[in-house]
Amino acid sequence: MSEIVPEESTVSRETDALPGSYPGPSLIETGAATAAAVRSGKYPALPHPSSTRVITVANQKGGVGKTTSTVNLAAALALQGQRVLVVDLDPQGNASTALGVDHRSGAPSTYQVLLSDLPLAEAVVPSAENENLWVVPATLDLAGAEMELYPLVAREWRLDRALRGYLGLTPHRFDYVFIDCPPSIGLLTLNAFVAAQELLIPIQCEYYALEGVSQLIRFLGMVRDNLNPSLRIGAILLTMFDGRTRLGAQVAEEVRQHFGDTVLASVIPRSVRLSEAPGFGQTVLEYDPGSAGAQSYLSAARELSDHPVR
Ligand SMILES: Nc1ncnc2c1ncn2[C@@H]1O[C@H](COP(=O)(O)OP(=O)(O)OP(=O)(O)O)[C@@H](O)[C@H]1O
Ligand SMILES: [Mg+2]
Repeated sequence: MSEIVPEESTVSRETDALPGSYPGPSLIETGAATAAAVRSGKYPALPHPSSTRVITVANQKGGVGKTTSTVNLAAALALQGQRVLVVDLDPQGNASTALGVDHRSGAPSTYQVLLSDLPLAEAVVPSAENENLWVVPATLDLAGAEMELYPLVAREWRLDRALRGYLGLTPHRFDYVFIDCPPSIGLLTLNAFVAAQELLIPIQCEYYALEGVSQLIRFLGMVRDNLNPSLRIGAILLTMFDGRTRLGAQVAEEVRQHFGDTVLASVIPRSVRLSEAPGFGQTVLEYDPGSAGAQSYLSAARELSDHPVR
């Protein structure tokens, strides 16, 4: 491939060294070339999965990179030719913000889908970022949903039914659905576990990284035993890796020892570009496609696309 040299301003200066970047099929390796390919719309496409993969992104520990991973993996897959739907199931609505969609109180959202039987099709909106990317936003109304769901019939199945109904009817098949969970194990997260075939668990490369993960795994076991036997851990993604400290490498090593091949080789670095992007209603793929953060999510997305589900 001939070298593409973009203008100076489009090239990120981030230089975080990443352990084990995924040696995926793409030959695009430098930030400059990535930025040029993304901006020209010529990023290589990935093969489509044989059926829609519904992936719940969960970890009841707060602030570990669930939403950042949801929106950036979704955008990375959309850039690589996949049709992707993001379902925002967190009352904070952070995924909706990052994808630049309206999520003011009262807007059609996951709240009405779960509580008022609104057909999902009426809440799905396109993301301005990519024509392959669609969103079901979450509004603050969802904050009361745990309590309001409680007395309802089939309260654990409401998202599953809405999603299945939609995926069965929509004329254009989705390749991936990502469900972004709140940082708690309650009825919202339970709905996400029942609706998915795969779990993606982001783990922050910090002290107490595994705190709460065993509780999450127990919850997974309970859901498999009682409600959704086909649910599996699709992938564990190491986030906020800081190459300058030994702690990051130690935590990454510990998580790999514990979970083996389930952990993606791609690691997400701590990157200021990743934390800035949502403030502009963008993912990092749009905000700074040449940054280390963007490249790591492109790499993780490629890996996820051919990662066996365990
Ligand atoms: N790799 C990263 N580098 C730097 N900042 C990051 C990175 N990943 C996430 N952040 C920032 O850390 C904060 C928490 O990330 P995020 O919102 O994705 O976590 P979360 O698990 O979804 O949080 P919550 O549990 O509240 O839903 C955000 O401000 C985000 O911008
Ligand atoms: Mg979040």
